[in-house]
Amino acid sequence: MKHFLEWARPGSPELELANRLDPERIPRHIAVIMDGNGRWAQKRFLPRAAGHRAGVEAVRASIEGCRRLGVEALTLYAFSVENWKRPKDEVNTLWGLLRRYLRQELDSLISNGVQLRVIGRIDELPLDVQDELDDAIAKTAGNHGLILNVALNYGGRSEIVDAVNAAIASAKASAGEVRLDEDAFEKYLYTAGLPDPDLLIRTSGEVRVSNFLLWQIAYTEIWVTQKFWPDFREIDLLEAILDFQGRERRFGGLSQRGSDEPALVGVADASRPAVQPDFPE
Ligand code: FPP
Repeated sequence: MKHFLEWARPGSPELELANRLDPERIPRHIAVIMDGNGRWAQKRFLPRAAGHRAGVEAVRASIEGCRRLGVEALTLYAFSVENWKRPKDEVNTLWGLLRRYLRQELDSLISNGVQLRVIGRIDELPLDVQDELDDAIAKTAGNHGLILNVALNYGGRSEIVDAVNAAIASAKASAGEVRLDEDAFEKYLYTAGLPDPDLLIRTSGEVRVSNFLLWQIAYTEIWVTQKFWPDFREIDLLEAILDFQGRERRFGGLSQRGSDEPALVGVADASRPAVQPDFPE
């Protein structure tokens, strides 16, 4: 948090918002569905690849913002198991951008204490991408700052299936019965050891989870902005966290405020806050 206050320009809207945050309640883990690169490009009569290229600047801003605010982990949904259905050229552009990003940013990730991790079926990625990732993961493994977790060839359902298969394999190897509970199952997920996301941000206005971290977001607060991903900056991250800090997280328990008070649904730019029905969560 201190680093963010030092970074923000005096009098800037970023500093004004940052000063309204409760430093004791910064989300430990933020997950992001980066959406709207294509529409950003289309609006400017540019090819979709231009939207992905512009999206890299938003990746930088969100990493830097999270790092300066003291967020422990940031998980970015960069490529889903479904994204292979896109035209080959677009898929290749995405891998090219990731490789270029790693090459250009590795030194700054290292010097800023960022630890790179990946989740997904990584062994199905192009070999040159796997090599580049392995190198960056190894070189940042000793860092103790922000954990940057990039979801690549990731699907929430495939993650659960992979976890079940890993649990079966370990049961066979130990030649005994393995009884799973939620804590034991969690250790087989790609995100083993990470806290569940406190906050899920999605850009470009769609209100769905798109097969992202299905197990882990059971009690995550969701915040949606109408902005397309390439326009996402530190100010949007601050808005999302401020909204998050205004929520009351009940985790299935009872309200501390009084049962009649409605919780807000976090869709930025909505003209009126929606009232959440009182489901037995
Ligand atoms: C969604 O927009 C975006 C993606 C599928 C890819 C995100 C990738 C990057 C921002 C670049 C590289 C990433 C890293 C981590 C360096 P969309 O194409 O689905 O947009 P649309 O819904 O408007 O078509």
